[in-house]
Amino acid sequence: MPLSQWGRILVDEMEAAAVPPGGLWVWPLGGASLAVKSARSTVYIDPYTGSPSSGVWIRMVAVPFDPRDLRVVDAVLSTHDHDDHCHGETLRAFADNTGALFIGPASSAAKMRSFGLPETRIVRVRHGDSFRFSDITVEAVEIPDHSDPTSVGWLVSVDDGPTLFDGGDGMYGDYFKKVAETHRVSAATLSIAGLTGDGRKIYMDARELVAAAEDLGVDLLIPKHWDLWRNVWLDPWEVVIAAQVARAPFRVHIPRLGEVIKL
Ligand SMILES: [Fe+2]
Repeated sequence: MPLSQWGRILVDEMEAAAVPPGGLWVWPLGGASLAVKSARSTVYIDPYTGSPSSGVWIRMVAVPFDPRDLRVVDAVLSTHDHDDHCHGETLRAFADNTGALFIGPASSAAKMRSFGLPETRIVRVRHGDSFRFSDITVEAVEIPDHSDPTSVGWLVSVDDGPTLFDGGDGMYGDYFKKVAETHRVSAATLSIAGLTGDGRKIYMDARELVAAAEDLGVDLLIPKHWDLWRNVWLDPWEVVIAAQVARAPFRVHIPRLGEVIKL
């Protein structure tokens, strides 16, 4: 079962948070997972409470929330179908305890069906699809993962306020420039991690993360995912150094688990 090592502490903090109109607050939940809240809407991106205990994919970071404690969530956005971005036990708990829609690309939607989530609450997206929840708009954009060509990045824009871009586990390419052609992106959460034990590169490295953030034209880069897996753990300060070397025109913030980042 999903298990929070923080009890209800973080859920209570997030629920009590009074986000002002035009504000967008982000809570890093470990790995790729984020909660994003505006004055009138709440979405989760790639929520994951799993904890494999065998093989090389061993969870390093605490699970700071239990989705069974949640009540008001508008949508769960998935970037692709890997376990840590589309997880059965986690999503079933969202389905049972909130009215959230489950929105993701073809790969994620197929997995959501296999989890037994209510069919009427699963939404398959294509690149460019967008949805409106009260005061926010979410839009799926093309950001290929190393193994999932249908994968998406998510833009979350609040009315009269900032736009967050989440790149899932996307690899570097010209996709980030394309996003910037049509959107003013304030902040980006981008996955970074090291090589796998057998030497495969399945995440962006620090220089690529900085280049992607420059392509997006952000004010703020928030590296994520580096803290999740034992076999690809990476020191996120590599990103700070890479940004300094590149004289990057944006801030880098290394998030602490469960802190609130106010955009
Ligand atoms: Fe991942």
